[in-house]
Amino acid sequence: MRIGVLSGGGDAPGLNAVIRAVTKTAIFKYGWEVTGVLDGFEGLLSPTKTRQLTSWNTRGILFVGGTILGTTNRGNPFAQKTVVNGREITEDMSPLVLNNIQELGLDCLVVIGGDGSLKIGHGLYKLGVPVIGVPKTIDNDLSATHVTFGFQTAVDTATEALDKLHTTAESHQRVIVLELMGRYAGWIALEAGIAGSADVILIPEIPFKWEKVAEKLLERKKAGSKSSIVVVAEGAKPVGGEMAVREKAADGYVLRLGGMGERVGSEIGKRTGFDVRVTVLGHLQRGGSPDPFDRLLASRYGAAAVELIAKKRFGEMVSYQPPDITSVPIEQAIDKLRLVDPDGDLVKMAEGIGVSFGR
Ligand code: F6P
Repeated sequence: MRIGVLSGGGDAPGLNAVIRAVTKTAIFKYGWEVTGVLDGFEGLLSPTKTRQLTSWNTRGILFVGGTILGTTNRGNPFAQKTVVNGREITEDMSPLVLNNIQELGLDCLVVIGGDGSLKIGHGLYKLGVPVIGVPKTIDNDLSATHVTFGFQTAVDTATEALDKLHTTAESHQRVIVLELMGRYAGWIALEAGIAGSADVILIPEIPFKWEKVAEKLLERKKAGSKSSIVVVAEGAKPVGGEMAVREKAADGYVLRLGGMGERVGSEIGKRTGFDVRVTVLGHLQRGGSPDPFDRLLASRYGAAAVELIAKKRFGEMVSYQPPDITSVPIEQAIDKLRLVDPDGDLVKMAEGIGVSFGR
């Protein structure tokens, strides 16, 4: 048995831990071989973009951020964009991918990815490739698993940033706005916001009212608070307003969000007269060493992916349903985002301790 493994989409802390666990379980427990495919699905467009994985070259990577295989969050072999004679054309390159999988002698493919990469993986599975999915994203927005690896580390990083912002905000009697990632889901902002003691948390699932945000900050000042912290998820939007989009593809697909932190900061300044500063945490949330929770979860996911291969349960994705790692059909995991429930326990608890969601 020769397993192919690739990481697709944006990187997340814990990718290397999955790659290591897949490799070690395959080699030590089953005596199989593992081929790493480089740069996500792009690596399958050429049979030379691979690397043999061994227990030796996957040593010492458990705690290393990023992915030793490389990844990309642009490009899709089913709709590959290339420029021919100065014109951009879209081609279905899946026949080439199928051919390369055969040429490489891959008996199956482990796809470590979020919604987009799992969709591509599922497409290949429908064409006959034995695929196993592993859920990855710092956004934690996949519905078919309790949690994706990478999320907890992103929350740790964002919480540490909030701890630091509190002290400088207090020294200067400022309002500090922190913009966090998460795309259309507010999980990072919500959990880091609560853990980092934010006063206002704005998330995509709860469109906010400008006047409510300003009211909360003015009330705090009146009650004697010298500073306030506002967390803004990049996908947050005001009631009746739009998300802040930084980059769109020609077909209108949103490639990058960003800028809502600046908008919120400037509006707060206008409405309250407070001295406001804005920090965008950006890709710091994606980098660095996975925390112990993510190392453990990613290792469990990697090992469980190999067990699914042993049982020939192709077309499935490993899933964490505490306390067990189980599996679900990949198609259950795609096209259905796991979003924050605006009336759920976590939001209610936060409101109960005085956090405003601007509603
Ligand atoms: O999906 C992970 C994520 O970090 C999102 O939170 C964010 O919107 C996006 O990827 C950023 O992607 P890029 O690496 O293209 O800037």
